[in-house]
Amino acid sequence: MSKIRVCNTAEIPSNGMKEYDIEGGLKVLIANAGDRYYAYQGICPHQDVNLGEGYYDGAVLTCHQHLWQWDIATGKEIGLAEAPLEKYEVQVEDGEIFVVQSSALKVAQLFMDISDATLQQLDQLARREKYESGSTLYNIGDPTDDLYILESGRVEFLIGRDGTSPAGFVLRKGEVFGWAALLENQPRRIAKSTCLEDSVLLRLNGEEALKVLESDPASGYFVMRKLSTLITRHLASPGEK
Ligand code: FES
Repeated sequence: MSKIRVCNTAEIPSNGMKEYDIEGGLKVLIANAGDRYYAYQGICPHQDVNLGEGYYDGAVLTCHQHLWQWDIATGKEIGLAEAPLEKYEVQVEDGEIFVVQSSALKVAQLFMDISDATLQQLDQLARREKYESGSTLYNIGDPTDDLYILESGRVEFLIGRDGTSPAGFVLRKGEVFGWAALLENQPRRIAKSTCLEDSVLLRLNGEEALKVLESDPASGYFVMRKLSTLITRHLASPGEK
């Protein structure tokens, strides 16, 4: 968990919003509504579009691209929108606005239903690493030793014999990729993964994570169920993540 200063309250127009790039390469949207301030992910959960370029009336935020909308008090989707916004805790101290970030593991769908004790053990095992834009995380044929959880930034996947065909990208905090590290019969990568911008990732060794999950069978079962959904989705739309 980390607390990061974003801006001064005077910088945010009344019932308006402003976008900031903060430490760790994260884009954050700060919005004012009366005497309250809210902080959300700065990139639309639909596509790679800055929400700061959208519309905000003091209550509802609208992405200008395809008009997805969210309730500014909760981040919940309204109307056409198909996903909520990630909300950050805001603290205002002496006119300064801070956001408090929780670990990406806590919002990772793959680990959503596991016990707090097991989540804590996985969190202790995870290494938090920063990568510059253009860094290659793994290549086709590399061993599947670690899995990754996106904390901030954007990662692209390429497939094909020479690793040049686009196979999608991840940009939402908590998205897990490289999950072949949790599978027994998938010793080599079948995609190349590259950071498209400065990114922060949690990196978890697959073998160590499996040992933790084996010691808590109920949590292990939830993870394997989610993993089977990921694999099914992958089979329907190829491109390892
Ligand atoms: S990119 Fe924001 S709604 Fe489509």
